Amino acid sequence: MTTAYLAAEGFADQLQEELQRAGVAVIRRHERLFICDGPAIAAAWAANIWHDCVELPVASIGSAARALRDIQRNWAMYAPLHHRRAALIEERLPHVSARPIVFPAAAPVAPLGSWTLLAPDRLLAAGRCSSPFANGEVAFVPDKTGPPNRAYLKLWEALVRLGRWPAAGERCLDLGASPGGWTYVLAGLGANVIAVDKAPLDPGVAAMAGVEWLGESAFALEPANIGPIDWLLSDIACYPGRLLRLVETWRASGLVKNFVCTLKFQGATDHEAAAAFAAIPGAQVQHLHHNKHELTFALLSS
Ligand SMILES: C[S@@+](CC[C@H](N)C(=O)[O-])C[C@H]1O[C@@H](n2cnc3c(N)ncnc32)[C@H](O)[C@@H]1O
Repeated sequence: MTTAYLAAEGFADQLQEELQRAGVAVIRRHERLFICDGPAIAAAWAANIWHDCVELPVASIGSAARALRDIQRNWAMYAPLHHRRAALIEERLPHVSARPIVFPAAAPVAPLGSWTLLAPDRLLAAGRCSSPFANGEVAFVPDKTGPPNRAYLKLWEALVRLGRWPAAGERCLDLGASPGGWTYVLAGLGANVIAVDKAPLDPGVAAMAGVEWLGESAFALEPANIGPIDWLLSDIACYPGRLLRLVETWRASGLVKNFVCTLKFQGATDHEAAAAFAAIPGAQVQHLHHNKHELTFALLSS
């Protein structure tokens, strides 16, 4: 069985290190695509995981397109090499609409396969992939006027991928909230938000209905003083190990239903901390298209 892992642009090293740490044998590297022996592991740094890959001979452009169409309808091309030939094959495949998402919306559900030309006469294809988005890249219709920064895109993507978002009236605790991109998203959904950051919120966000600002350290909060929370969100600039202890404190309190937190790395990637987050039962840890040198941890109530 062959599995291929595609890294996001700029994050191939992180994926390679993660695969190595997990003992996954890389048979071949095709630019950002790591082609490996064995079944898939939950690789956090993979933008897309290609399951059960098959290699197909490409006798002609037409036969390659036919071979792909025989497997299924929807395909996404990854073409770091042999672009012209790949583009000619793509032209013969059914059009796949990749309209930008208007938040909030569920991710597409139609199966989307992936393929690449390993050589002019050899194609690698997988009908089943982990991401519903071509090469794991999510595009949104941006909100150019409301949010004070671009951090809102990261939260939009996390919530779309999870297929869940705060409902009107739910209680959110937004840690490391300034200047307020995430708080803007949450308040926009009608949630009540306690935004915690020593730095203030953008005045436009602070004035939104349901927003309360607490100008203190997120690490100084006592869960019992805050009470039940539907969503705990953190985008605090801090070491992942410190965030893990904070998450464990709130999990132990039993007061939080859902978590969405950014793990931020400075310098070398702390794979050990990422693995500790991933080991929390039910956790999802993933590098989002809108993440920088970060991973997003999510833990949802059932
Ligand atoms: C990347 S910014 C957050 C951006 C925010 N999510 C948004 O959407 O606008 C990181 C924030 O973490 C905050 N921060 C750092 N240490 C903190 C702490 N101990 N408690 C609360 N916030 C903290 C910083 O002040 C900074 O505003």
